[in-house]
Order: sequence, then structure tokens, then C-alpha cells
Amino acid sequence: MAFVRKKNVKGRLYFQLVETVSNKGKTKQKVIKHLGTEDSAKEYCRKNKILFKFKGPEANLSGFFGSGKQVSEFVTALKGRNEIPLKFEYLQDGARRWNALVHSRDYELGVIETELIKEYAKEILNEVKEKINLIDLGCGTGEKANLFLERMKQYKRKYVALDISENILKLAESNILKKFPNLNSEFLKIDFEEGNFAQITEPLREKNYPANLILFLGNTLGNVSDMSRVLTNIRESMTFRDYLLIGIELFDIKRTQDILGHYRGNRIWQDNIFTALEYFGLTQNDGYFEVKFNRNKSQVEARFVIKKDKEINYGSKKIRLKKGEKILLMISYKTIPRNIQILVAETGFVVKRFFLTENEDYALILCKPTKL
Ligand SMILES: C[S@@+](CC[C@H](N)C(=O)[O-])C[C@H]1O[C@@H](n2cnc3c(N)ncnc32)[C@H](O)[C@@H]1O
Repeated sequence: MAFVRKKNVKGRLYFQLVETVSNKGKTKQKVIKHLGTEDSAKEYCRKNKILFKFKGPEANLSGFFGSGKQVSEFVTALKGRNEIPLKFEYLQDGARRWNALVHSRDYELGVIETELIKEYAKEILNEVKEKINLIDLGCGTGEKANLFLERMKQYKRKYVALDISENILKLAESNILKKFPNLNSEFLKIDFEEGNFAQITEPLREKNYPANLILFLGNTLGNVSDMSRVLTNIRESMTFRDYLLIGIELFDIKRTQDILGHYRGNRIWQDNIFTALEYFGLTQNDGYFEVKFNRNKSQVEARFVIKKDKEINYGSKKIRLKKGEKILLMISYKTIPRNIQILVAETGFVVKRFFLTENEDYALILCKPTKL
């Protein structure tokens, strides 16, 4: 008897009409007809009086995440705070989506920071008085690190990329090794929100150069829910000889609309923050994006507002998303130099230098650990 099967290919859900056939004692499912999206499959089933009921594998959470812990964190955040932490949007197809976003003109932030690095990388490396291992925390495509590596030719370089997303690490590896095929490099999966990563930074100092320069670029600090916790994790992975370079967008009340302009109506960015929901069967037509500037917290907040009741299935569990519910998909903290100075001081750093764009809308901040 024919029945409908749900397939998840690269995060996109589609439906097939299949029947079970047996051949030489073995049974398998044979596709009779491709039904397309959920809506067109339902329509076909209604017309042909076929039960629209899924058989076969459901969307598999552990297939999306890197660990069981991440599954629990995702479920708890979604059920307990109506939030999907942004880090999950970089998993799986999120790598391709981030690659598209960081190169797009509409988003601007990637381009602005890249130009700033081109201008100041040499000065930053001069300011760092040590021979360093370059650690790229939340490495993304690795292309910004390339700009530093190009200017570190005076000695043998050591580069370590750290990221939560396996696919992002593969992308960075391909970009870095294309430029520097013989580079002494490592590409390691970590979650910097979980704790310090001294198990990586300490052996580097032992085996390679005596100090580390940690790059924390792309406004990544502004995207985490607890910046102090993340800075503390970084601080606990450093000694007094190390350096930290933070890349962050700055805030000025007159620029609120410009800041929102990076996001509002930007389809590539919407795809970027929709990776997880799409993997679990939602489409962007199931709701709409709401992007606001929260003045109290000085952050852009992006939510997906659900238009009709939906359900995310995983194994035997379900998460119900009710019509009208708003799911927080992104926060992006924007600050003024004074506030970031206070924040880093509270977590055990001193600012050595600010490197600013001409109109002071983006900063690279070079910090060093201090005594707490
Ligand atoms: C905004 S992108 C910036 C990428 C790159 N640094 C750049 O400037 O283009 C954030 C990066 O950090 C990674 N990331 C986000 N949260 C993370 C976490 N908790 N642990 C490790 N990596 C994380 C993402 O996978 C992504 O590659």
C-alpha cells in the first residue's frame, strides 16, 4: 500500500509517495511520486484520498547536533526561553549560509571588519611583542585570519582554528590551506560557552611559541547571551603573555537605523539565522521576522513570529510552537568604547589599543590579561 514519506535533505523537508516492494526476500521502499513541500503533499493526499501521515525517519536531532548535551541545551532553550542560541545556526548547512552572509555587501559588517584588519593587522602584530601562536576563536571562513598569517612571514607560523561547527571548520581549513598549504595548523571543535579551553592554549605555548594571540572577530562576542561568562572562559585560557583581539560593532544612537539596516529585509541573513528551524521542518512562510533594537540592553534582537501552530518532532518527543509565539533567534550587542572597556576590565583584561574605522562604527580592541 502506498504511503507518504518525509525526507530531510540538507535541511530542506520534502515528501514522497512510496510503496514497500520486496525483491529476493528483501523489502525496500520504492518512490512512486515526488510530492514536493508539505503543503503540496497535503493537497495531493486530499485530492487522492491518501492518509497524510508520516512513516519512516523523523527529523533526527542528534543528526543535526554535535553532542547529546547540545540536544538538551537546544530543547531547554526553546522550551524554557523561547530561544534558539545563535551558535546552533552555524551547524550543518549553517556553514554555507554564513559563508554567503559574510561576503554579502548588504550585511556590511564582514566587509567593514575585513577592511579594518587590512589596515591595522601589521600594527597589531607589532604591538604584540611576542612570537605568537594565532588562535582563531569562532573561526568562520578563516579568511580574516589569513590576513594576519600573510603578515607573519618573519617566522614559522602556528595557526589553530576553534569552532562549534564541523562544517565551518572544514570551510576554514580549505580556505587557509589553499593559501598556506604547508601551514602548521589545527582545526578543533569546541564550544567556548561551555568553559575554558586551556587544554588547547597551554600545550601550544609549550610546543610552539611562548604566547598566544586569540582572534575573536566578527562581532561574535556581541552574539552570546552572557558576554562576561565567555570573556571569563577566554581569560582562563590565557597567561599574562597572551593577547586577545576583539572585533565588535560600536553604537551611537544616531546610527540605530543604519545598524538595523544590516538585518531588516536581508534575505541572506534571514537564511543564516533560520538554519535550525528549517532543518526541523519549518519554512520562512510559517512566520515572519521581527527585528528590534532593545535600548535597555543595547542590542539588536531578531525574533521569528509563528503564524500557525507548528511542531518540531524528534524521536518520541515534541516541541509545540504556538501561533503568535516569538522565537528569539539572534541578539547582537552594540556598545560604546567606554562600556566595552568596563566589561573587559571586569573579566580581567586591560585594553592596550582601540583600532577604529573612520566614522567610529566598528572597533578592533587589543586586550591583555591583568591581575584579577
Ligand atoms: C559571527 S561568526 C564570525 C566568524 C569569523 N570570526 C568572522 O569574523 O568572520 C561566529 C563564529 O563563531 C562560531 N561560534 C558561535 N558560537 C560558538 C560557540 N559557542 N563555540 C564555538 N564557536 C562558536 C560560529 O560557528 C561562527 O563560525
